[in-house]
Parts: sequence; C-alpha cells; structure tokens
Amino acid sequence: MSILVTGGAGFIGSHTCVELLNAGYDTIILDNLCNSKSESVKRIKEITGKDVKFVKCDIRDRAGLDKIFSENKIDAVIHFAGLKSVPQSCKEPLEYYDNNIGGTVTLCEAMAAAGCKKIVFSSSATVYGSENPSPLREDMPEGKTTNPYGTTKLYIERILKDTYAADNEWSVCLLRYFNPIGAHKSGRIGEDPNGIPANLVPYITQVAIGKLDHLNVCGNDYPTPDGTGIRDYIHVVDLALGHIKAVEKVLGETGCSTYNLGTGKGYSVLDLVKAFEKACGKKIKYEIAPRRSGDVAICYSDPTKAKQELGWSATRDLDEMCEDSWRWQSNNPNGFED
Ligand code: NAD
Ligand code: WQD
Repeated sequence: MSILVTGGAGFIGSHTCVELLNAGYDTIILDNLCNSKSESVKRIKEITGKDVKFVKCDIRDRAGLDKIFSENKIDAVIHFAGLKSVPQSCKEPLEYYDNNIGGTVTLCEAMAAAGCKKIVFSSSATVYGSENPSPLREDMPEGKTTNPYGTTKLYIERILKDTYAADNEWSVCLLRYFNPIGAHKSGRIGEDPNGIPANLVPYITQVAIGKLDHLNVCGNDYPTPDGTGIRDYIHVVDLALGHIKAVEKVLGETGCSTYNLGTGKGYSVLDLVKAFEKACGKKIKYEIAPRRSGDVAICYSDPTKAKQELGWSATRDLDEMCEDSWRWQSNNPNGFED
C-alpha cells in the first residue's frame, strides 16, 4: 500500500513517516519546505533504513498534484501540510485561509480526479473552542474558534464532512490532536521551529540549552491547582502510531469519523517545568507573565473513542516526552541546520 504524506517533512509528519515505513507502507512525502528542511527526509531514511520518495510541491499547485497522482499509485493520503502558528495567523489571516483551506480543497479535487478518496486529516483540539468543559469528547459541539488558524481547522473539518456527505465513496478520518511534544528516541528528528518558539516545550528546551534566558509562564491565576494552564501533552510517536491506525481504517472502509488523539491526562505549565528539569538535570528559569490572549484554562481529551474504535491509546508518559525532547534539542542545538 502506498501513502502520500503531505507536510511529511514537518514535525508530526516526519515521525509518522518513520512509523509508516516501519509498518511496511510505501511512503511518498510532498512538502513545500516552508516550515521544514529536506534534512528531515534524509534522517527518516537513516532511522528506518528504507527509501522514501520526496517531492517538493505546494498543495495549492494542482498541476504538481496531478503529476504526483499520475506517476504513483496512491492508496490514501495523510494530510499534515498547513501553517500552524496562532499568532502569525492573526497577522496574516488570508495567507492562512489560502494555504490551509485553499490547499485542502485543491488537494481533495486532485484526489477525486485521481480516484483516491481516502484521507486522514490533522485537525486540532482547538475546534472545541472555550465553551466545552474538559475532558473533551468528539460528540461535543465544536466551539467558537479564537484565531484564524483554529478557524481553518474547523472549516476544513466541515469541508471534508460535506465531501463525504456528497459522495459516500470517500473515507475521511479527522484526528484532533492535543499538544504533541517529544521526539523520536534516536534524537535524529524532532520539532525545529523557526525563530522564537510560540509553544511551551520548544521554548523550554531553548531555555535549557541557553538560547533563551527564561520562560514566561503565561498566567498563574487560572482556576487550576497551581494557577497555570492545563494541557494534554502527547508524545509525537504515540500520535504517529495513531495515524497508522487511522490509515488502516480509511483503507478498510468508507465513512467519515472523528477522533481525539490525546492521553486523557492534564498537566500544568509548572508540571512541565518540573518534569523537564528532571529530564535535563538543569533548573529552568521562569517568570510569571500575564495571561496570553485566547488561551483556555484547561484543555484535555477523553481518548475513549480512539481506544474503542481504532484500538489506539497513548503509552508514553510525561517523563519520557521530556527526556526525548531534551535528547533531540541537546543533540541538535540548531535543529536540522547542524
Ligand atoms: P510543521 O510545520 O512541522 O509541519 C507542517 C509541514 O507542512 C511543514 O513541513 C511545511 O513545510 C508543510 N507545508 C505547509 N504548507 C504547505 C503547502 N502549502 N504545501 C506543501 N507543504 C506545506 O507542523 P506540525 O506540528 O508537524 O503539524 C502538522 C499538522 O498538524 C498541521 O496541519 C498542524 O496544523 C496540525 N496540528 C499541529 C499541532 C501541533 O501542536 N504541532 C496540533 C494540532 C494540529
Ligand atoms: C501550552 C501552555 C500556555 C508558551 C497550541 C495551539 C493549538 C495546537 C497546539 C495546533 C498554555 C503556556 C506557552 C510560553 C507559557 N496547535 N505557555 N509560556 O496554546 O495549548 O496550543 O498548540 O493545532 O491550536 O493553540 O499550546 O504550547 O502554546 O501552550 O506559559 O512561552 O503553555 O499559556 O497554558 P496551546 P502551547
């Protein structure tokens, strides 16, 4: 079976390609490298000892997509390609709508034209908005999104649901990720953000290697035990393995389904700081800063549906996530540029 992985050079995509190759799938990566490096593709090959085809292409390039589908027999698509920065999406909403939504529509049109109607999509817990209480379940109504990035995920979910409703030959699996962190055990692939990281764990890792002076803890007056925000951090390898189960599902049957990929456990910002200090053996300097606009106090999953229907659940704990993030960062202080 052959799987096209859009955004396969990125953080979650690269880890998923490793697991796809390990599971015996032929894997083709499509990425425009706007937020990743081709070095990650080399390292996927190094880790697995298997070949992977790489095509530099934009998901908005219909002719480029048609060429890939005509030259390869593709059984299903895992669709990671997209822009993901919340603050950048507030500054450049049209770029986000064009890239994420326009790109997904073009991809689906190319898929339909090629007769490949099986897709696994990277959605996000952000679609639950701030109104639903945690643990978040897939049968809860989607919430009001607070930034253009989140809105792209909500709209793409609707577009894919409508696509299935109009044509039941499609097989769609919407995966709502919680907070992916960690890295492959080899320390050879991991998260490599451009500029100053917007997310907690890449920020902490850069404080730990001395690139950044201290962490700003965004709010300590939330209604949580220590006052800091609670999230459901999930190891990126567990997340990657969830995609293998989702691909099996779309290959095996038509339909449209939605799953949370989370651990079901919530940890605070200060829990993360402590766990990371243990993993790296250093103190993480931090200061309490104001709340970040758009943040919810508590966000964690109910992962029951994925366990029951996909046979998947996360097995890696917070200590392992921090150890693996630290191995990646300390072995590659400048990310893939080394
Ligand atoms: P990433 O930026 O590391 O990977 C995305 C990849 O897509 C990058 O390699 C980038 O170069 C590529 N890309 C972007 N636009 C493209 C386009 N128009 N054509 C071709 N390639 C393009 O991000 P990630 O953390 O691996 O996230 C993967 C997906 O998961 C994204 O869709 C993201 O929105 C979603 N997601 C991420 C998180 C998270 O916290 N990391 C949480 C929920 C959902
Ligand atoms: C986690 C916690 C912050 C940075 C984002 C997107 C979401 C999804 C995952 C893609 C919060 C606190 C953070 C810092 C801090 N992405 N924090 N200091 O906001 O839960 O989710 O990434 O879909 O859509 O919104 O993740 O890592 O940014 O924040 O105190 O410098 O860490 O306030 O409580 P978030 P995060």
